[in-house]
Amino acid sequence: MQTVQFANTEARVSEMCLGTMMFGGRCDEAESDRVLGAALDQGVTFIDTAAMYGNGLTEEILGRIMRGRRDRLFLATKVHKGVDAASILSSIDESLARLQTSYVDLYLIHWPVQGMRPRAMMEALAQVVAQGKARYVGCCNYPAWLLAHSNAIAAENGWPKLVCNQIAYNIVERGVEVEILPQAVAEQIAITAYRPLAQGLLTGKYRWGQPLPENTRGQTSAQIITWLSQYGESVDRFIHFAEERGISPVQLATAWVRHSPAVTSPIVGVSSLSQLQASIDAFSYDLSDVDYAAVTAIFDTEVKEEGLQRFPGLKYNFPRLRRNLALLGE
Ligand SMILES: NC(=O)c1ccc[n+]([C@@H]2O[C@H](COP(=O)([O-])OP(=O)(O)OC[C@H]3O[C@@H](n4cnc5c(N)ncnc54)[C@H](OP(=O)(O)O)[C@@H]3O)[C@@H](O)[C@H]2O)c1
Repeated sequence: MQTVQFANTEARVSEMCLGTMMFGGRCDEAESDRVLGAALDQGVTFIDTAAMYGNGLTEEILGRIMRGRRDRLFLATKVHKGVDAASILSSIDESLARLQTSYVDLYLIHWPVQGMRPRAMMEALAQVVAQGKARYVGCCNYPAWLLAHSNAIAAENGWPKLVCNQIAYNIVERGVEVEILPQAVAEQIAITAYRPLAQGLLTGKYRWGQPLPENTRGQTSAQIITWLSQYGESVDRFIHFAEERGISPVQLATAWVRHSPAVTSPIVGVSSLSQLQASIDAFSYDLSDVDYAAVTAIFDTEVKEEGLQRFPGLKYNFPRLRRNLALLGE
């Protein structure tokens, strides 16, 4: 597993980030222990968790199974409850107690909420860093303007900036290509991409017109069922494309996310040791530009913005221009 630069910090992380949302749920503690051990053995050191997973249970399990391994990990967790200063300051203490560690490497706001106060939030995050409880701070699911606004406040006050935006990104969910990914490249924000397999939709086990496979998230996820009804034919063609190349759909879905120069680390969710191995193997397969374009064309998921007019003398129309990672020169 290769390591990658984490934003403009001094840290390097494994390219694969291990998502732990299933620890304590579909993945019991003993299996979670085996997954973490195997991940570490193969160089996966970047771990993502959150206080809200299992209502604290996931962090508790991590606290137990990380014993003796904590120093080898780059550990991210997220604020629970509210996003006001008091919640940010108490939530980190509760997470550290459950995780049995004195610090996390990355502390993230989990979701923007209505009525949030970025100045108070950035000040509270700065306090968390000053107290040595987090090395870096970041956010999840932030629109580009909010990240820029928050970081402008941080710069004015000499507070740590948000260095990471954790967002959903896969061949079905592509809205972040319009503003968030170009911003990340321009401002050296780390992008950690969750749901790279679209919750399992892109693993080959879901087929339109066939019964949902037993013992999968598809049986309870309305999202997977909606996607399947919307993109069933595309999913079939995606699986066929992978078969033609002699790779697994997991490899293809992961390679598609990794192909973006804006993505630092895909966050892969696993429910078992065998799934972990398939995902680790996926990181050794790269898509050519030609195959990337071909597989992208299977899904009609490109985000169209307002105004499809072409400006005279410009090669691209307006939405394409905004999505184009090559827009900025050196
Ligand atoms: N910041 C946020 O708001 C946010 C939101 C969501 C997630 N996350 C993070 O992102 C991580 C990943 O999210 P996710 O779990 O939704 O992403 P995902 O990687 O798209 O989906 C993972 C699911 O795919 C299936 N799967 C994985 N490998 C497989 C294989 N080899 N063969 C067959 N099926 C396979 C499993 O489903 P089954 O269990 O059905 O087998 C697994 O639970 C989470 O653990 C969490 O850390 C963050």
